[in-house]
Amino acid sequence: MQKVMSVLSGNKVNIPPVWMMRQAGRHLPEYLRVRKTTNNFIDFCFNSQKATEVTLQPIDRYDMDAAILFADILLVPIALGRTVSFEKGIGPILDPLSVNDIRNFQINTDTLEPVYETVREVRKKLHNNKTLIGFCGGPWTVATYMLEGKGTPNKEKAKIFAYKNEEAINDLLDYLVHISSEYLIKQAEAGADVLQIFESWASDLSPYLFNKLIIEPTKKIIKHVRDAGITVPIIGFPKNCGLSIKEYVKSSGISAIAVSTEVPLDQIRSFIPRNMAIQGNLDPLALRIGGKTLKNQVQNILDKANGPHIFNLGHGVTPDVKIENIKAVISHIRTGEGNYV
Ligand code: CP3
Repeated sequence: MQKVMSVLSGNKVNIPPVWMMRQAGRHLPEYLRVRKTTNNFIDFCFNSQKATEVTLQPIDRYDMDAAILFADILLVPIALGRTVSFEKGIGPILDPLSVNDIRNFQINTDTLEPVYETVREVRKKLHNNKTLIGFCGGPWTVATYMLEGKGTPNKEKAKIFAYKNEEAINDLLDYLVHISSEYLIKQAEAGADVLQIFESWASDLSPYLFNKLIIEPTKKIIKHVRDAGITVPIIGFPKNCGLSIKEYVKSSGISAIAVSTEVPLDQIRSFIPRNMAIQGNLDPLALRIGGKTLKNQVQNILDKANGPHIFNLGHGVTPDVKIENIKAVISHIRTGEGNYV
């Protein structure tokens, strides 16, 4: 059995499986080489051959236990007829939504077909002891980019929109639930072994908004996926959501919880179901710093993660991370020692 699947079914193993969010990205020279051949990031994501190649790079380079599909959470707004672009040094740029736009989405889910082709290709090429993870963004996280038009520090515009435009926000989240459910179902049908829902902007929400914007849409997605006969484990990643993580684990229907860096691994066990797998939560900053700092942080997580655990970061690998340090982390997890630099 794949190690990740074993842990997701509740087994505690001596050596935890490991993969890292953004393991296929700009810290890898082989990624940059392929990335350079397509100017536009969206075209790159929709190129199944290139996306397959970069999905597999971290497996070849690091022997990670899981590959994560190379795509982006912001492909879903494209299926709703919106324009998305990525500007160097800025990040995603979208045309900010108005209430009227929400009534007039031009839905075309066929746009997402190349992503399923990537999943099929990767699953064919990946050794069967490795897990393939598919994903989507949480509807609220995707909505924040659609409403704000770009990444912003506090999502104030999106939150004010949510408070003031009850009907429009419900409609927008329903559209996103619908497309994201189909996106996940088709990834699983194409061969994804596990699905992850990235809720990167789950922070600073009142419990009222957390329930409305995060829990309810997540519940609906999981129901649609299960109603379609998909039984694969679903990992939820509600980033920086504070105590709301309790309600999220209890009510959303997720199979396993991915935790960002601030969550004390030894405390979260007390309020999640016995044998639920936890994924995370090495500080990405420690990975950037390396050396003794990194070694101590890795050991700390190994010591505290009592129970089924998938080793990962609390957020993604940054472009300045050294390859040697990722290798050292993996070696430390598997052998007890690593050559940190
Ligand atoms: O290795 C992997 O993790 C798989 C592929 C993946 C990407 N994005 C590739 C990517 C995944 C799972 C994502 C998810 C994603 N995308 C999230 C949720 C996780 C998180 O980071 O919080 C979010 C919020 C996005 C939206 C997004 N995509 C932003 C804000 C940016 C710009 C920031 C940046 O790092 O440049 C992206 C671009 C992006 N997505 C890159 C990669 C490898 C870098 C683009 C490049 O190659 O130039």
